Amino acid sequence: MTGFVSFVGSGPGDPELLTLKAADRLGRADAVLFDDLSAGPILDHAGPEADLVGVGKRAGRVSPRQNHVSRLLVDYASAGQRVVRLKSGDSGLFGRLEEELIALREAGIPYEIIPGVPSAVAAAAQCGIPLTRRLTARRVQFVTGHDTNGRLPQDINLAALADPSACTVVFMGKRTFPALLAALCAHGLPPETPAILAEAISTPAQAAHRATVAALAERLAGEIGDKPALILYGPLAEIGVGFD
Ligand SMILES: C[S@@+](CC[C@H](N)C(=O)[O-])C[C@H]1O[C@@H](n2cnc3c(N)ncnc32)[C@H](O)[C@@H]1O
Repeated sequence: MTGFVSFVGSGPGDPELLTLKAADRLGRADAVLFDDLSAGPILDHAGPEADLVGVGKRAGRVSPRQNHVSRLLVDYASAGQRVVRLKSGDSGLFGRLEEELIALREAGIPYEIIPGVPSAVAAAAQCGIPLTRRLTARRVQFVTGHDTNGRLPQDINLAALADPSACTVVFMGKRTFPALLAALCAHGLPPETPAILAEAISTPAQAAHRATVAALAERLAGEIGDKPALILYGPLAEIGVGFD
């Protein structure tokens, strides 16, 4: 008997941002394999009998290898279980979804993908701004601030990231932002470009700090803390507010 895997985007952390489909699949799952950022009260939506298995991958910590996670998924589903693979935000954004899909395909296991609220979208909402400011932000772009070794990726498009008409959201970028900013300024990004550091959005630890990109890089060169964070910069609306 073959089971079934639902890839579920958990949203940024607040269980009220789960979709109805996500809550339904969690409630009917025999096993839930979850990342660190999808833990906490979101797991309360799983049934009392469900196996809850943490497979978190967080920067700077020892984490299960990706092929181990794929193997676990295949093993649970091959045993006939209904499995939820819970990933933060939307599973398809910097979530290493493809590796797990390939493993399931190769094992002949059926699956579905249920989208979630991306943390970048939730951050803009929480800060009270649109991601695309009318007439000034012509584009929005999501970029990762680190490669598989935790370093600034060498193949990022610096000209696009220095485009003053784009709103940019950097994922996993706290550690590398000072180096990124130096490269961006060399490509013409003004150091006074507005920026927001949005941390642990939609959780009790959330905070948002408004600054210029230059001031933010200086702050992050000193202390980065351990909260998950996004850096937004570009033609950001001025109406939004920071909060702690
Ligand atoms: C592996 S990526 C996954 C992104 C996720 N799939 C999404 O759609 O938001 C993890 C990174 O997403 C960002 N992130 C996820 N949840 C967040 C939150 N609640 N607040 C701020 N940043 C968050 C951080 O940059 C974090 O390091």
